[in-house]
Amino acid sequence: MIAEKRSRNRLQTASLAPLLAAAFSLAFWGCSDGSQNDQPTPPLGPLLLGNAQDMQLMGAIQAAGVVPLDLPAPEDPAIVALGQALFFDKELSGDRNISCATCHHPANTTTDQLPTSIGAGGSGSGSVRSLASGTMIARNAPALFHLGAATTGALFWDGRVSQNPATGFYTTPESALNGSSPTRSDITAVLSGVLSAQALFPLTSDHEMRGQPGNEIRDAAENQATWAAIMARLVGTSNGTVGGLAAYRALFDAAYGLNYDDLNIGHVARAIAAFESAVYRGTDSPFDRYIRGDVLALTPEARRGGLIFFGRAGCANCHNGPALSDFQFHGIAAPQLGPGVAAGDDRGRFEQTGLAADMYTFRTPPLRNVELTAPYTHAGAYASLEAVVRHYNNTAQAARNYDASQLGRADYIATVDTDPARIEARIAARDPRVQNPLRLNPGQQADLVAFLRSLTDPGARDLSATAPASVPSGLTLVD
Ligand code: HEC
Ligand code: HEC
Repeated sequence: MIAEKRSRNRLQTASLAPLLAAAFSLAFWGCSDGSQNDQPTPPLGPLLLGNAQDMQLMGAIQAAGVVPLDLPAPEDPAIVALGQALFFDKELSGDRNISCATCHHPANTTTDQLPTSIGAGGSGSGSVRSLASGTMIARNAPALFHLGAATTGALFWDGRVSQNPATGFYTTPESALNGSSPTRSDITAVLSGVLSAQALFPLTSDHEMRGQPGNEIRDAAENQATWAAIMARLVGTSNGTVGGLAAYRALFDAAYGLNYDDLNIGHVARAIAAFESAVYRGTDSPFDRYIRGDVLALTPEARRGGLIFFGRAGCANCHNGPALSDFQFHGIAAPQLGPGVAAGDDRGRFEQTGLAADMYTFRTPPLRNVELTAPYTHAGAYASLEAVVRHYNNTAQAARNYDASQLGRADYIATVDTDPARIEARIAARDPRVQNPLRLNPGQQADLVAFLRSLTDPGARDLSATAPASVPSGLTLVD
C-alpha cells in the first residue's frame, strides 16, 4: 500500500518540481486559522494531495526556522581520541566506578533508559541499573546528539550551563568561569563552547561522579580543587613526574603537546566535547533528507504528522530551529518523580533563577532520534512517544491522571509525586500554548508519532562503533 502510494507520488513530484520551487516564494496558506481539521485547500488548482501537502509542510518548516543542522568539522582526531578515552573511563570518577558512558551509553542511544539516572555506586547498565550503594539523580539523562552545533543553546533541563552567542561569555554553576573576566580564564580559554563547559559539571557532582567521602576527588573542598584532583589522577603533578598515568600523558601529548603543568580541566572537557560532537552527529533521518530537498523521504503518515506538528498542534512554537528546540524554558506540566531537586519536587528553571515566571519550566529538548531515547521528559515520566502525544492532547488531564505503571519499576513508581496541590501548581504554570486540548483523534496522534519517528537517523540505531575496546586506566567498561 505505502510503497504504491509513494511511487505514485514520485511521478507527480518529478513533473511538479518547478511548481514546488515556485510555491516557496508564495505566501503559505493554512496553519494560522486554527481550523486545520479540514484538509488544506491547494491554491494551485488540480494538484494531487501528496504534493499539496508537501508544499504546505515545507512552507511551515521554513516558517519555523528549521534548516539543516550546521555541525562544525570534527576537531583533530587526537583530541577526539583523548575525549573518547575520557568519556568511557571511570578513572574520572571519585571511586572509579562510573563514567560519562554509564549514563550516556551508545548501546542505549547515549542515554541510560532510566526515568531518572542512578549515579556513583549504582550497579548494572541501562534500564536494569539498580541503586546498590548509589543514589537516584533528580533528572532524566538527555541524549547527546548534535550538541556541538553552533546553534546549541543552554544545556541541562534547567539551562544552568550556557554561553552567550554574542560575547562568548559562559554562565555555569562555577562563578570562576563566568562572565567577562573569569578568574579561571586559563580554563575558559581552552573550552570550545557550551558542550565543553557542560562536561565540567558531572565531575563535580557527588551523586553523579565524585562518589563517597574518602577518595581525594570527593574530599576536594570545591569545584576547582576537584578538577585539580582529577588532573593529578590523569597526568600527575610536578609536570607529570608524580603520579598520573603514562597512557594518559601520551594521549594528552598527542592531543595538545603541552607541558603537563599547563594542562587543566578545560583540556579534559574540550576533548570530551570533541568526542561527543564528532561521533553523535548523524543527519540521515528521513526528516533531515526531507529538509535537504528530498520530497520523497517522508512516508504519507509522517508527512501528515509533520503538518500537525508544524500546524494545528503548535509543537513548533517551541520545538523549532535547526535542532527542533528553541532552547527556552516552558511549563508543560510533565509528571514529577524521583528525588527531585528539593524534597521530591523539581521546579526546573526556577531552581536557577528564583523568578516566579520560571516556576516549573524546563528547557525544550531537541527531538532528533527521540524515538530511541525513551523514557521522556525531565524525570522520564513517559515510556513511549504515544504517551507524550497523549499528554499534549490534554495536558491538564494527563497531569492529573498520570499512569505511573508505565515506569515499569517499583522503585521509581514509589517516587511519583501525587501531591494534588503541586500537580495543580504545575498545571497553572503551563505555557499558554499547551493549555488548550488539541482534540487529535487516534489516527492523528499516530501520524504525529510517525512524524517523530521520521527524526531517527538510521545510524543512531547502532552506535556500538563509538565505544572503545578498553580505556587507558585499564578499568572495566562494564557497569
Ligand atoms: C549518573 C549519570 C550521569 C553521568 C555519570 C553523567 N551524566 Fe550527563 N547527564 C545526566 C543527567 C541526569 C543529566 C540531566 C541533568 C540536569 O539537567 O539537571 C545529564 C546532562 C548531560 C548533558 C546535557 C544535555 C542537554 O541536552 O542538556 C550532557 C551534554 C551530558 N550530560 C554529558 C555528560 C558527560 C560528558 C559526562 C561525563 C563527564 C556525563 N554527562 C556524566 C546523567 C549523567
Ligand atoms: C510551550 C512549548 C512546547 C510546545 C508547544 C511543545 N513542547 Fe514538547 N516539550 C517542551 C518542553 C519544555 C519539554 C520538556 C518538559 C519537561 O521535561 O518537563 C518538552 C518535551 C517534549 C518531548 C520529550 C522529549 C524528551 O527527550 O524527553 C517530546 C517528544 C515533545 N516535547 C514533543 C512535542 C510535541 C509532539 C508537541 C506538539 C504536540 C510539543 N512537544 C509541543 C516544550 C514544548
